[in-house]
Amino acid sequence: MDTNIEPDCFSINLLFLNEDQVKGEINLSKQNQQCDLTLQLSGEVGETELTVKDGNGVCLFKFSIGRETECCRVGTQSFLITLGYVSVLLHFKTRAEFQAFHKLLNRGNDTKKETSVFDQRTDDSSALQYFQFYGCLSQQQNMLQDYLRTATYQKAILVNEVDFKDKTVLDVGCGSGILSFFAIQAGAKKVYAVEASSVAKCAQILVKSNNLSDKITVLPGKIEEVSFPEDVDVIISEPIGYMLINERMLESYLHSRKWLKPNGKMFPTFSDIHLAPFTDELLYMEHHARSSFWHQTCFYGINLSSLHSAAAEEFFKQPIVDTFDMQILMAKSVKYNINFLEAKEEDLHRMEIPFVFQLLQSGLIHGLAVWFDVAFVGSRVTVWLSTSPNEPLTHWYQVRCLLQTPLFAKAGQTLSGKVLLVANKRQSYDIHITAVVDQSGFQSGNTLDLKNPFFRYA
Ligand SMILES: C[S@@+](CC[C@H](N)C(=O)[O-])C[C@H]1O[C@@H](n2cnc3c(N)ncnc32)[C@H](O)[C@@H]1O
Repeated sequence: MDTNIEPDCFSINLLFLNEDQVKGEINLSKQNQQCDLTLQLSGEVGETELTVKDGNGVCLFKFSIGRETECCRVGTQSFLITLGYVSVLLHFKTRAEFQAFHKLLNRGNDTKKETSVFDQRTDDSSALQYFQFYGCLSQQQNMLQDYLRTATYQKAILVNEVDFKDKTVLDVGCGSGILSFFAIQAGAKKVYAVEASSVAKCAQILVKSNNLSDKITVLPGKIEEVSFPEDVDVIISEPIGYMLINERMLESYLHSRKWLKPNGKMFPTFSDIHLAPFTDELLYMEHHARSSFWHQTCFYGINLSSLHSAAAEEFFKQPIVDTFDMQILMAKSVKYNINFLEAKEEDLHRMEIPFVFQLLQSGLIHGLAVWFDVAFVGSRVTVWLSTSPNEPLTHWYQVRCLLQTPLFAKAGQTLSGKVLLVANKRQSYDIHITAVVDQSGFQSGNTLDLKNPFFRYA
């Protein structure tokens, strides 16, 4: 016998373990046993398919064991697998067969790639959709055509040429490679451009067609998973989503700091998230009206009204992405700073922003408006990219979070409370708002899902 070939067929007896519905006890009756069966293994490492056949070679059933399957060794030659409500005990004829089975099942575990920080904090489905989105040239174009964004990045890099001249640069999430090209324009000696989506191929094409293959190296992959031959002097990136934090790419940007030399530069360097209470009766009414569709009692003959409250709840969870006039703001904004040279990735998992707003006008407070600024602190000049409502509009617009019920307050009173931002595995945040008008005790709040905003702009 060739000992290098591992057997993938085993002789087993099977025992189904059912919980007795009445007594809640495990049923070990003979009826649940099937003897003299053959078990065959096939499939991939990490996802093994098990086929059980009877003595005539007739397939009795098939199931898969993946990394998530609940299973374990029992004694020296049995194996227990739980699939939904059913548990199956595979009893192998010999101990040697059990050991061969166990080895086959665990093959690849020793060579298994460690899951990266990115993978640990992200659902596979979210990552797939996210990188498919950025893999489209139309999405890259949308960002490139945001004049304020792209021109401000170029300005921040070129006016601080001294920070780039003859330096090594890392571009985190390079997309089309635009920031890498700016770094070269500022005199960088070498740029490592990392991109996890399929647009990395396009960046490579642009590098080649612009005759910069000796200066820009495009590395396909996630920043959390790639490695470089050297540490860098500067890290550049545009890791910004709605409300700054959507997409959770800031964490990847902070992660990349492991490749930064001591006293190296980060472009952007820090950011301020701004919050301010706003009044907007029209927006509030409009948002309410969206769920009135579900009030209908005869929609093609069907009464929809039992879903009205669920629909209203769902709509109120949506942050609103659009722009507005500064006049709707009822107080000076409160800001929350994130320093990209110092913050740890974990700091972004849960951020609490306390506020006390001094109201400048009387009226109904319908919610909190949010925007952000980022600063590029160069050796020569600090350049700001602002998404404030009193600045030209960017593709990030501004975001507004409604309160479940508006709060009446008078000029001179204070609105206090907090915004709690909790990161989730869908590359976004749950936003929890609590607010009280201190003088009247009127309270309100809301919990919103930043992953699912309502795009209200025209
Ligand atoms: C907002 S876009 C910016 C693209 C480009 N730097 C620009 O300024 O036009 C972010 C890019 O980072 C990529 N990205 C996001 N997370 C990443 C990660 N963990 N590793 C590598 N690339 C990532 C995305 O696929 C996307 O192309």
